[in-house]
Amino acid sequence: MAIKRIGVLTGGGDCPGLNAVIRSVAKAAIYRYGVRVFGIEDGFQGLIEDRVGELMSLHVSGILTRGGTILGTNNRADPARYYVGDDADGEPIFENVVDRCVATVDKHQLDALIVIGGDGTMACAAPFIDAGINCIGVPKTIDNDIVGTDISFGFTTAYTTATLSLDRLHSTAASHHRVMVCELMGRNAGWLTLHAGLASGSDVILLPEIPFDLDAVSKFVESRTQRGRGFSIIACAEGAAVKGEDQVVAFHVGQSHHTARLGGIGEHVAQAIAERTGLETRTTVLGHVQRGGPPVPADRVLATQFGYHALGILMDGAKSRMVTSCGDRIGDTGLMTAVGSQRLVPRDHPLIDIARSVRTSFGE
Ligand code: F6P
Repeated sequence: MAIKRIGVLTGGGDCPGLNAVIRSVAKAAIYRYGVRVFGIEDGFQGLIEDRVGELMSLHVSGILTRGGTILGTNNRADPARYYVGDDADGEPIFENVVDRCVATVDKHQLDALIVIGGDGTMACAAPFIDAGINCIGVPKTIDNDIVGTDISFGFTTAYTTATLSLDRLHSTAASHHRVMVCELMGRNAGWLTLHAGLASGSDVILLPEIPFDLDAVSKFVESRTQRGRGFSIIACAEGAAVKGEDQVVAFHVGQSHHTARLGGIGEHVAQAIAERTGLETRTTVLGHVQRGGPPVPADRVLATQFGYHALGILMDGAKSRMVTSCGDRIGDTGLMTAVGSQRLVPRDHPLIDIARSVRTSFGE
């Protein structure tokens, strides 16, 4: 079937570089292939509610450098399990509204969808494939935890932002001789904290993949003080947990693919250190600052490559594939590769050993 009209959507949490992908897809479609592109608003929500509009060249002009997504996004609207309200007992009611989405696709005569998102978005695409709608996935996340690709755009920007924030904590920590705990995002994966921790020369790095001991962290910080280093910087992943304890959950988002929102471990660590050592501690939670702002040049390049590749393989007849970057090569794998598991930091990752060699503690 000749591809004449494609839909594009962004799903899940936003990240820097989404606009660069949209621009890359739209410009190449219009100018290279003569294909019309339709933007779907707010992820799958736009398909459910038929909020679809044609993207012309002028709509994607000047967006390469902009953070966020011009299409809007949504990390709750799963068409196969769509929240429609609560029952009399206050329990949520979910309906399968995939048919409504298929009707929208038919109405706009879309020959395929390009879905830009994380594992949740790829999972949402599965029923569309079953319904005969071709989907090509483009992986995005600041967490860098998507299985099948070594890196996704947004990650480099996020760890750059986090690194620069940790750098700023250094000077104030040194001036006040304090212990500064900085909590970073990343969900269950420690990539963001490992990279930002290493790049900022953090003294302690706490990762979800390496459960830590509060006494060990406190002793390490104390020993730094005794050696004359009047301060310590601790980069703590939101998913890090004390040995034998659960992750600290801030709250739940019932309709989301990943329901738990992690948060609070940074403050827990800071209080424990203060109690054990008597040192003055402070906590900074970087939060969504890490997701915002313009993509760094490397992410603009990667996102542009991803968009170009997604469109290229679609035009060449590929079905149900997800774009990847492995080594130096942009390629693709089965769309469902990313679904159901996360790419975590292996405990023997070279960066961990390198960090240890410069006397960074992982709190074991
Ligand atoms: O997956 C990206 C991410 O920013 C995680 O690092 C974080 O745990 C989560 O999303 C936050 O989600 P929300 O934007 O719903 O608060």
